[in-house]
Amino acid sequence: MKNIFIVTGTSKGLGLSFVKELISKGNFVFSISRSETPELKRLKTSKLLVHYDCDLTNQKKLINTLDEIFDKILVSKFNSITLINNAGTINPIGNVGINSFDLLSKSIDVNLKAPILISEFFIKETQALNCSKYILNISSGAGRKPYAGWATYCASKAGLDLFTTCIGVEQLEEKHPVKVVSFAPGVVDTNMQVTIRNTPKEVFDSVTRFIDLKSNNELLSPQFVAKNLLELLKSNKLVSGGCYDIRDYISTP
Ligand SMILES: NC(=O)c1ccc[n+]([C@@H]2O[C@H](COP(=O)([O-])OP(=O)(O)OC[C@H]3O[C@@H](n4cnc5c(N)ncnc54)[C@H](OP(=O)(O)O)[C@@H]3O)[C@@H](O)[C@H]2O)c1
Repeated sequence: MKNIFIVTGTSKGLGLSFVKELISKGNFVFSISRSETPELKRLKTSKLLVHYDCDLTNQKKLINTLDEIFDKILVSKFNSITLINNAGTINPIGNVGINSFDLLSKSIDVNLKAPILISEFFIKETQALNCSKYILNISSGAGRKPYAGWATYCASKAGLDLFTTCIGVEQLEEKHPVKVVSFAPGVVDTNMQVTIRNTPKEVFDSVTRFIDLKSNNELLSPQFVAKNLLELLKSNKLVSGGCYDIRDYISTP
């Protein structure tokens, strides 16, 4: 029987690595991001991937997409179902007081509102099912430590962590609980880091730290992070409701 995964933010970076790793192990993936890239099209030939174009800032489209996904899932037979809330945006970068309302609002939509709505949907649809059910929220060290210039990103990831912990407490009372954890994935070599390194120092004072990490080859590859996170989910090292950091579980490659 199948193991099903729903993954957001799959067009590139960590999300794309999750999809590749999952498919290579024979898992079935429902992927959500704004566009179906050539790489996702190629992966669809495996017949293990169904992709949905959906901008997570468009809540009506998101709900329709989730309806379609669960209509397909609930008529199939499966062993386990896992949601990976991975999509995220670092934008807008800049101290509070200089940012556009529109970008701030989109940041909260993608980083916090969408994971909350998708988790709500996921738990509603799966609560009664007697199978393995898991939510992995991709958080950030920035949700646990302040960075000047990233206030909204930090706040949304901190919110995602507490949301995770609250679900953990709620699910203790359930007959067929959904497990949930949040993970800070370390500093990962993706487009998000390119955006960070390209930010002027006047706008983001810590930029030098991120430029140095790249120059010193200290970034984790998205493939390495995806593989290790998926192995951790399968292990019994994690407690539901916990907020973890991958750097506590790996030795750097
Ligand atoms: N890279 C790091 O060092 C780092 C560190 C800590 C935490 N994280 C977290 O790791 C996760 C993955 O980030 P990444 O580094 O892989 O970033 P990335 O390379 O920029 O990829 C972000 C993904 O999110 C999707 N996304 C962004 N806005 C979206 C929207 N409005 N609707 C739908 N999808 C949207 C993007 O898809 P499209 O733009 O194609 O739609 C893309 O697939 C994020 O949650 C991030 O906060 C990353």
